[in-house]
Amino acid sequence: MSSKNITGNHSSFKVKPGGVISGRLTVPGDKSISHRALMLGAIAEGETTITGFLQGEDTLATARVFQQMGVEIENNGSLVKVKGVGLHGLHAYDKALDFGNSGTSVRLMSGLLSAQAFDSELIGDESLMTRPMMRVINPLRTMNAVINCTDKGTLPINISGGNQLTAIDYELPVASAQLKSCLLLAGLYAEGTTRITENKTTRDHTERMLGAFSHPVTKNGSKISIEKAERLVATEISVPADFSSSAFFIVAASICPGSDVVLENVGINPTRDAMLKIMDLMGADIELENAREQSSEPVADIHIKSSELTGIDIPEELVPIAIDEFPAILIAAACAKGTTRLSGAAELRVKESDRIEAMLDGFIATGIKVEATDDGMIIENGEFQGGVVNSHGDHRIAMAFAVAGMVAKDPVVIKDCENVATSFPGFVELAQKAGMDINYE
Ligand code: S3P
Repeated sequence: MSSKNITGNHSSFKVKPGGVISGRLTVPGDKSISHRALMLGAIAEGETTITGFLQGEDTLATARVFQQMGVEIENNGSLVKVKGVGLHGLHAYDKALDFGNSGTSVRLMSGLLSAQAFDSELIGDESLMTRPMMRVINPLRTMNAVINCTDKGTLPINISGGNQLTAIDYELPVASAQLKSCLLLAGLYAEGTTRITENKTTRDHTERMLGAFSHPVTKNGSKISIEKAERLVATEISVPADFSSSAFFIVAASICPGSDVVLENVGINPTRDAMLKIMDLMGADIELENAREQSSEPVADIHIKSSELTGIDIPEELVPIAIDEFPAILIAAACAKGTTRLSGAAELRVKESDRIEAMLDGFIATGIKVEATDDGMIIENGEFQGGVVNSHGDHRIAMAFAVAGMVAKDPVVIKDCENVATSFPGFVELAQKAGMDINYE
């Protein structure tokens, strides 16, 4: 399915100023958790059922790849059934496996596919083909994988199957949950105990979900250990709403006077939720209600009311725990009194776009004073003017500037928005319902 089908064949958004964010909203399912539920379900024994699955382009790319490798997946839009083939039941696909725009899929699957008996080739779209892959290739090679990519360290990745992996003791050189999860998936197949040290906390959905599939990992401070698995056992996964998709409404409600909204059933995993802390430091009015646990993940309803925000120096230790939320947070920063400084966020340069450059472009196009640095940005409080913003094909840049349009002087048009469907199908319709004057152009 192409992303055009989901967005209704329109590639630009137009947002007119004004509006308040109100009501009770449910954003689509968590992308990271949906990917992992498919991956572990596919190699488990028995049938895994997933509710709340994100029906986005990225997670559908993961599903398609597993179908190409012989896994039966039934998806009726509200329930996904994965007929697990066991750890050794996948089979080769005779073409390259295409992961579209999804970095999470390709990096996690590199670990899984390195352990299979067959060869694979991994490719993606224009953006994914430029993203760094050596971070997974280097440690996988140390585990005895035979894995190659281009001289630039980019896709296509080629993996020669039939190599028994061996465990390693590895300290993550970048704060990346994709890298950590890649090695945990490889660790399921490696002889011995794979030990991973992470000096900066990153999202721990893989660790939590392995427990749900009856193969718990051990955590000791910053060290995570996984044993070779004999089997994973199918389970039921209920995916919470995606915190990263909620971020756009958290900011919209905070900056649009008179807003009062509840976002329902959102994942608030402490390795993902630093945006709440950052917004709190800026003076946002956010309450968590009805906190509970769902499929080994903490969830809550998030209640946001508009408030006056103040600029801050964003604490660097919070950066990896809020990494996907910066496009939204930086819009809040432009609306906050004074100056906001972001540093320690060089990873933003290697996301679906160079997000420091893409935000800089968007801010310049809408009249906000900003300065980009190697690893962050300095943003001055200002009033968004109308203008035309290039999303650089990045879903989160597109949605962030849609939010900015609500508080702009004149309409904001955002170009190249098809990839919003990778993480947030139905964004325009939900934003309209919430109170944003947004339409396709
Ligand atoms: C993800 C990890 C993060 C995040 C991405 C999803 C995951 O990437 O930006 O959207 O599901 O593991 P990195 O591991 O590159 O930080």
